[in-house]
Amino acid sequence: MKTVPRMTLTQFLIEERRRFPESGGDFNSLLLNVALVCKRIARTVAAGELGAATGSASVINVQGEEQKMLDIISNDFFIEGNHWGGYLAGMVSEEMELPYQIPSGYRQGRYLLAFDPLDGSSNIDVNVTVGSIFSVLRAPASDRPVTEEDFYQPGTEQVAAGYAIYGPTTMFMLTVGRGVHGFTLCPQLGEFMLTHGDLQVPADTHEFAINASNSRFWEDPVRRYVDECLAGKTGVRGKDFNMRWIASMVAEAHRILMRGGVFLYPRDSKDPAKAGRLRLLYEANPIGFLMEQAGGAASTGYQSVMQVMPTAIHQRIGLIFGSKNEVELIERYHNTPRRDDEPNPLFKQCGLFREPA
Ligand code: AHG
Ligand code: MN
Ligand code: MN
Repeated sequence: MKTVPRMTLTQFLIEERRRFPESGGDFNSLLLNVALVCKRIARTVAAGELGAATGSASVINVQGEEQKMLDIISNDFFIEGNHWGGYLAGMVSEEMELPYQIPSGYRQGRYLLAFDPLDGSSNIDVNVTVGSIFSVLRAPASDRPVTEEDFYQPGTEQVAAGYAIYGPTTMFMLTVGRGVHGFTLCPQLGEFMLTHGDLQVPADTHEFAINASNSRFWEDPVRRYVDECLAGKTGVRGKDFNMRWIASMVAEAHRILMRGGVFLYPRDSKDPAKAGRLRLLYEANPIGFLMEQAGGAASTGYQSVMQVMPTAIHQRIGLIFGSKNEVELIERYHNTPRRDDEPNPLFKQCGLFREPA
């Protein structure tokens, strides 16, 4: 029997581009080079202790977090793989305090790239799945150096987003605004092959993911939601829930894209200087775009995450995403609290965590 050959990522992007005859090749070059970077990171991660890239770099990054060697190496791969192409005007990364400027020897392009080079990096030393997350925005039409403000665009302005996941298999998940498509790295060919076309996140679920060790810092709507899940069949939800926590958001997002579920890293009162744990530009927005394109949802708890206007490149935000009905329920709990859900006095008195306008 003759089998139909699978489509490569390159072919997929060429087919997509046929719909825009006026477009140049810049957009596809950008996505293919990001995919190439991800293959390079996948090989480096897979080498583990046999490679030269494990352990701590003994450096604290702009986030105040310890950098692993692989955080720095993955960041370098993203830069080296993309700064020469002529399609980018600048890049923002979790691992760099300021936007990266395209070196003067190279042409400046029409797109901006924001990325988390390695998400879940605390898991590297224990051989648990990590990944890379990226978001593509349009650059302002100008030859001047990029500014932080150029990246202050709501997630709804993204033209592409995706992630690579370095698990038992390496996969590249992509949206260019027409659904979400998954590509599996073929170890023989070294090519990403289309294996998961047009993914759909089921609207309902009985699986949730949250770091329960933060429960004393949660706002009441989150506590109410989790309590109701934990009450299972005996509570108002009338069904039992299962819980997961990988501490690698990209791996949680992948599970949810594959079989549904809801992920919560809500804003809380743990550190009043941080309105959440995850970063808007290169974690929340790209995952939000993927979720919405797959029929799911992504919220700050109060509004769609992709509608938030950023005010800083490393801005943190509360993030809840996954199965649509569940995300909408949690948003309702935030926006129409029960009478006995008195807001946490910390939020009330100080207004510390007001959502950006
Ligand atoms: P990063 O490794 O890029 O800093 O991101 C880690 C994030 C995210 O992947 C994960 O969901 C979360 O941090 C884990 O947080 P806890 O350590 O609080 O569980
Ligand atoms: Mn991350
Ligand atoms: Mn990271």
